[in-house]
Amino acid sequence: MSYTYNDEVINEIREASDIVDIISDYIELKKTGLNYKGICPFHNEKTPSFVVSPNKQIFHCFGCGEGGDIITFLMKHRNLTFIEALKDLADRSNIILPEGNDDAGKKKYDEREKLFKLNREAALFYYNNLKSNKRALKYLKSRNIDFKIINKFGIGYANDSWDDLFKYLKEKGYEEELIYKVGLIVQRRDKSGYYNRFRNRIIFPIINIRGKVLGFGGRVIDDGQPKYLNTPDTPIFNKGYNLYGINIIKDNRRYDKAILVEGYMDVISLNKYGVDYAVASLGTAFTENQAKLLKRYAKEFYICYDSDEAGMRATDKALEVLYQQGIKAKVIILPKGKDPDDFIKERGKKAYQEAINKSLDLIDYKIYMYKKKFDINKPEGKIKFTKKITQFLKKMKGSIEFDVYINEISNNTGISVDTIKNEIYGYRDNNLNKSYKDKYSKPYFRNNIKDRIKPVEFSLEPGHLTAEKRLLNLLLQDKNIYNKVKEEFMYMDFLDEDNRKIAEIIYKKYEKSEVLNIEEIIDELDINTSEKLRNIINLVSNDDNKEKAIKDYVNRINYYKKKIRRDYLKKEINQIKDKTDKSKGEVEKLRVLMMEYVQLDKELKVNH
Ligand code: GTP
Ligand code: MN
Repeated sequence: MSYTYNDEVINEIREASDIVDIISDYIELKKTGLNYKGICPFHNEKTPSFVVSPNKQIFHCFGCGEGGDIITFLMKHRNLTFIEALKDLADRSNIILPEGNDDAGKKKYDEREKLFKLNREAALFYYNNLKSNKRALKYLKSRNIDFKIINKFGIGYANDSWDDLFKYLKEKGYEEELIYKVGLIVQRRDKSGYYNRFRNRIIFPIINIRGKVLGFGGRVIDDGQPKYLNTPDTPIFNKGYNLYGINIIKDNRRYDKAILVEGYMDVISLNKYGVDYAVASLGTAFTENQAKLLKRYAKEFYICYDSDEAGMRATDKALEVLYQQGIKAKVIILPKGKDPDDFIKERGKKAYQEAINKSLDLIDYKIYMYKKKFDINKPEGKIKFTKKITQFLKKMKGSIEFDVYINEISNNTGISVDTIKNEIYGYRDNNLNKSYKDKYSKPYFRNNIKDRIKPVEFSLEPGHLTAEKRLLNLLLQDKNIYNKVKEEFMYMDFLDEDNRKIAEIIYKKYEKSEVLNIEEIIDELDINTSEKLRNIINLVSNDDNKEKAIKDYVNRINYYKKKIRRDYLKKEINQIKDKTDKSKGEVEKLRVLMMEYVQLDKELKVNH
């Protein structure tokens, strides 16, 4: 082999990859104690003996004896060469690999290494400055930062000097161009030279999971402007890809909690009080890549931003970004005007822990947020609230949580499930009801007897809704019918929410008595639903063969259920299909969805 990767590159990639995360793309893993377990892909087995250790970053199968690290896994499982596996991993972690024999690639890699070294040198320089600067130390003390924390985070101080660091680095033999490239110096406007970027500021080194210093944040110690100054994007620092504090999380809490906060000081202050799993998004909006990074180091996620308007907007955005990554984060709410730093300093760890315990999940946070924004006790506020929250719900259509969320919103606000659904589905149901009502309120509409006997055929309702109503109508007639229906059709099986509610009451009453008292049923319903029940009662029955009618209705409802599921699957499938770069997880999901789709499609065609 000519130019191959040195051990450092390989270690770098191995370190940046998470074995549980990657193997989970191929095999379903379940947590058992410290490790994860699954069915071994390398031999045939029914009970899992394939173990993955997140701490050791290795896998081992107690059935067949296969084992190794993530590179071995990919080589074996996907039949890749060592280099291919390495490249695959590097891609996932956004690490730029030197391109084999390619000189340019090697040069780029070497330059990055040099920039890391330069930053490390600068961090040490700042750190040493701090130790001898009374003013800076006094400031840190005023902010409750002691030496233990200074050392843990490598905090430093940039002297009030235009060129001390610049000179120091040049004397150490670093080229001007590199010092400039890594963002430590700024070019004079007239291009006659350079000066220190950070002056008279407390310095927070930003360190990645491999312990490399990527850049710095600097805070003024008086009330100068800007309050914080950050290293700009450089060949080794891309704000959207990194998180302040991720190096600490990585060592402390693999696979536990992570809290996303706004500022350097929040991370540091929480850490001091023993909440050592916070990270900050470096003064920019939280990005998809930051979510991907964070995902590797935690299982439970929290967001704890300021509670002002801007903070709430940022929280909302971060929730969405995390949700896109399959992460259901919770939101920790602090009193107005307090950031985590203020809060934990004033109230202590216990109070913060309580705030964590009381954190809100996605839907509860949305309700909380829009309730703050709109006064739902006033009609106008209620309308705006409903509009906003349904805008969010629309995105969740078809998800498992969808119905739960609607109910939760309804319970929390007193806004009816119907109103929420109407908003989501664009008043389709309402229109149906209207045409339905019109038909019956105008007795001379289609003025002939045949129409009046069989009004159903003129209904604009989807067939399954009609079937549900007719089935309910039959159920109301006598208990023998109920006894037949209940065997194969539970009240939960009704698709329409109101019909389901009516059915539930009917089913429950029949379990207790032989005959139904309609008034008792109506008592348990709200006005809208009892109106619907009246309509159902008044339906003209023309089912001569009741048993056959039951079968027909049940079939029709089940058919629609399958159809809805099929259409949903189709949408999901198309969404994934349209993606240009599908992840392995998505390819697998696509396969599973397609299988179900084809099966359903077949059933729908055969039966009807
Ligand atoms: P302290 O005042 O030191 O407690 O900072 P804070 O973290 O409470 O500040 P704030 O909530 O104002 O800012 C949160 C984060 O936003 C900071 O940690 C910075 O990363 C970033 N930030 C704040 N002010 C500035 C600024 O003036 N410029 C830049 N680039 N970033 C800032
Ligand atoms: Mn603060």
